[in-house]
Amino acid sequence: MRSRGVARRFLAMLGTRGSRCAIMLPMNMSLTTNIFGQTATVPPPTDVRATAGEIIVSLRGLYRELDNRCDLRPGPEVDDLFGRLVRLVLTAPGEAVPAVLNDLEVQELAPRLRELCGRGESEMELAWAGRIASAPAPRQELALFPYLDNYRQLSRMEIGVLASALPRRARSLAFVGSGPLPLSSLFLAGDLDLSVDNLDRDGIALEAGARVATALGYPDLTSHQVDVAAADLSGYDVVVLAALVGDTVEAKRRILDRLGASMRPGAVLLARSARGLRTLLYPPVDLAALAGFELLTQVHPVNDVINSAVLARALGR
Ligand SMILES: C[S@@+](CC[C@H](N)C(=O)[O-])C[C@H]1O[C@@H](n2cnc3c(N)ncnc32)[C@H](O)[C@@H]1O
Repeated sequence: MRSRGVARRFLAMLGTRGSRCAIMLPMNMSLTTNIFGQTATVPPPTDVRATAGEIIVSLRGLYRELDNRCDLRPGPEVDDLFGRLVRLVLTAPGEAVPAVLNDLEVQELAPRLRELCGRGESEMELAWAGRIASAPAPRQELALFPYLDNYRQLSRMEIGVLASALPRRARSLAFVGSGPLPLSSLFLAGDLDLSVDNLDRDGIALEAGARVATALGYPDLTSHQVDVAAADLSGYDVVVLAALVGDTVEAKRRILDRLGASMRPGAVLLARSARGLRTLLYPPVDLAALAGFELLTQVHPVNDVINSAVLARALGR
């Protein structure tokens, strides 16, 4: 429970207290849309094909450059490559997306690209966790983190989605895959007034996250080293599943199945997902894997937030 006060102070420090979701869209997957957000089956016109072709060439080039690097720790070149990849994904015209995702080479490259993105994100979080934890002025160092605003925007969206479905007496939230830089769980804890536990299977990531919290003056956040594939989460009212937990669509399916069996009836799940070209960066949640849940809603951002949010309520099995 102490994490509530902790996170509130943290949020006050970052000026985010009271923020609410900016984008709430109704569930908008249609019967003709698959889990990657592909829709059309009609052949695209020539100019769309040309644009899709250019995007595919760029994707191939960026993939090769990232794959050729043995080190994905942040630095000018790695930052530039990931920056270009993210911009390409976010700025591609919507009408070209089905042609890109239907391309056989892109389909083959996608899991490997996601794997590179996951490694890059872990390295980036670990590097910044180290910088923040060892800085003479950790809060000033955190303010230099280039993606602070992205983390904040994503949390605002998730807080809005969660607030629409929280059980009345919700007290506890498990953030699964909190990682080395657990900023999201701090934002969530502060705004939703819940006790938050950070869960991660990686002891190094958990320890780094705890050091960040301590360096920022908040040592009371609880962390547990567990693999969600074997964890009992029946003690929580809310579970948030980070995007990189379940690094393939299939692995995510298995984890959702486990969560459906282990979360208590009525508990709420928020699973980070992705749609359209964003699925080249993060694995999407397959809605068919939510057999143990009632699907409540999905939010697909159209700004520069990358992750979608899937909200569901556990049925109890
Ligand atoms: C690098 S963090 C990044 C968090 C990110 N912002 C997101 O939404 O995914 C992801 C963390 O998920 C953890 N993780 C991956 N699979 C997991 C599992 N099966 N159980 C618990 N933690 C897991 C990793 O150890 C890693 O620290």
